[in-house]
Amino acid sequence: QRPLRRLLSCPGTVAADLRREEQSSGNAETGSEDRTPKKRFSELQNERREQAQRTVLIHCPNKINEKKFLKFLSQHGPINTHFFYESFGLYAVVEFCQKESVTSLQNITRTPSLGPEAAIPFKSRYFNLKLRNSVNQTSELSSIQCSNQSSPSSKKLYQLLCCAESVDDQLNTLLREFQLTEENTRLRYLTCSLIEDVAAAYFPDCAVRPFGSSVNSFGKLGCDLDMFLDLDEIGKFTAQKTSGNFLMEFQVKNVPSERVATQKILSVIGECLDQFGPGCVGVQRILNARCPLVRFSHQASGFQCDLTANNRIALKSSELLYMYGALDSRVRALVFSVRCWARAHSLTSSIPGAWITNFSLTMMVIFFLQRRSPPILPTLDYLKTLADAEDKCIIEGHNCTFVRDLNRIKPSGNTETLELLLKEFFEYFGNFAFNKNSINIRQGREQNKPESSPLHIQNPFETSLNISKNVSQSQLQKFVDLARESAWILHQEGKDRPSPSSNQPWGLAALLLPSVTNNVPLSKKKKKPASERIKNLLDSIKSSGAENSIATNGR
Ligand code: CTP
Ligand code: MG
Repeated sequence: QRPLRRLLSCPGTVAADLRREEQSSGNAETGSEDRTPKKRFSELQNERREQAQRTVLIHCPNKINEKKFLKFLSQHGPINTHFFYESFGLYAVVEFCQKESVTSLQNITRTPSLGPEAAIPFKSRYFNLKLRNSVNQTSELSSIQCSNQSSPSSKKLYQLLCCAESVDDQLNTLLREFQLTEENTRLRYLTCSLIEDVAAAYFPDCAVRPFGSSVNSFGKLGCDLDMFLDLDEIGKFTAQKTSGNFLMEFQVKNVPSERVATQKILSVIGECLDQFGPGCVGVQRILNARCPLVRFSHQASGFQCDLTANNRIALKSSELLYMYGALDSRVRALVFSVRCWARAHSLTSSIPGAWITNFSLTMMVIFFLQRRSPPILPTLDYLKTLADAEDKCIIEGHNCTFVRDLNRIKPSGNTETLELLLKEFFEYFGNFAFNKNSINIRQGREQNKPESSPLHIQNPFETSLNISKNVSQSQLQKFVDLARESAWILHQEGKDRPSPSSNQPWGLAALLLPSVTNNVPLSKKKKKPASERIKNLLDSIKSSGAENSIATNGR
């Protein structure tokens, strides 16, 4: 009866949305349907990159006849796919079947004359479409379907969560609503490709590749776009062997270190984007950071971009996370929920500071899943033992080798529900000995902390680095307090869930409500006792085994 009642108590539109989304669920990119053969990360990246090179971005008039628009573009060659989206105006992303079509389109495109202003000529793949005669067309307009590029409002999310059938269903709903859509993914690769065009004016043969949450399968709609300027293909000694006693090298400018080289390269590219990059605004060069970067907004796509160079290890860690996300369908659902939970309680922020980052939270979830019995995810050391000669990868002296063929990793025999895992995650980290232990996904077990930072999460490849070095003691304490409180809420709910008709938020919806934070006293004095009290209550629940099993498996 419960599912029917839930559906009936939902507003009509949301219930309809729900059914539609159920039909279209599943994610082709990660192959989360467990049996489909899964693509390698590098294969996927290459396909997407090639696709983006055949794609153009067009700023359109607000009113446009879609059929005529497509017919006009088809003069340059067949179109594979297209979509529209809105972001301070109407934009179209059009993917041609062949790369030549883009050149053909560029050849009939003119540089605008802007009256008193002057334009810096640049043949990019970002166009502006104007109507010669707007009056004629308006009579033939049909409404254009725009693809949505942003995450659902909190209100819609709560409605969807409250209408779900179980906590597991809630976690999967949240994943479906927040994960990057096919269109958003295309737009991310296209944006990198457009930036590559600018960078290629300086460094022909360079590549601009996305990394981080845009590609590791843990990105939420609206997340930033991390880019990596890859210059390794330039002058790379390829297969052709030269004969004889001669060896040719390029005459190049030498600088004191790799870091200085990276800073110089990013400095000129930053300048280029600022001066000539169509649609690039607010360019900041942050060259003294540990990992030097250029930050800017790509106005047309709406993405906040971070461009780095010489950052191959980060690309490798994106590949590793992608693999973990694809190994078991519970991983992404859990990571998304923990990320949303952290955001809802201001544990994470878009401003850099002493907060926990999404990257650290993802590592914590992976580590937790490695600790289950039987484990849901394998350790990085185990993935290394499965690697063959082709998988071998050493970057700047760091061994980044692991098996890259997902199909060679055996699925886990663990069948725990998402509800149980979420509750146990909060309990596990609510009681973790952060003061003495470090989180380490390479070995999948706690290690003694090598240094005194409040939170220590070992970088999986640069093992001497702590990825959460920035986190302050008070932010860590806030995380622990909220984790305990959330574990407590889920425990209580397991016993006494509000009825669906009561319209009260339950399960994940209750955890995301700001009221949870309101329950945590703000003054430091009071914080500890409340947190301790919850810990003791949890311990007492745990000690009564029978009750515990009803609480977790009762539905
Ligand atoms: N990274 C790292 N060490 C850090 C921070 C980041 O190796 N201390 C790498 C990771 O590969 C990470 C990427 O840089 O995925 C991008 O960092 P960031 O944008 O902070 O994290 P994302 O994973 O992209 O998550 P978000 O959605 O918050 O952007
Ligand atoms: Mg990012």
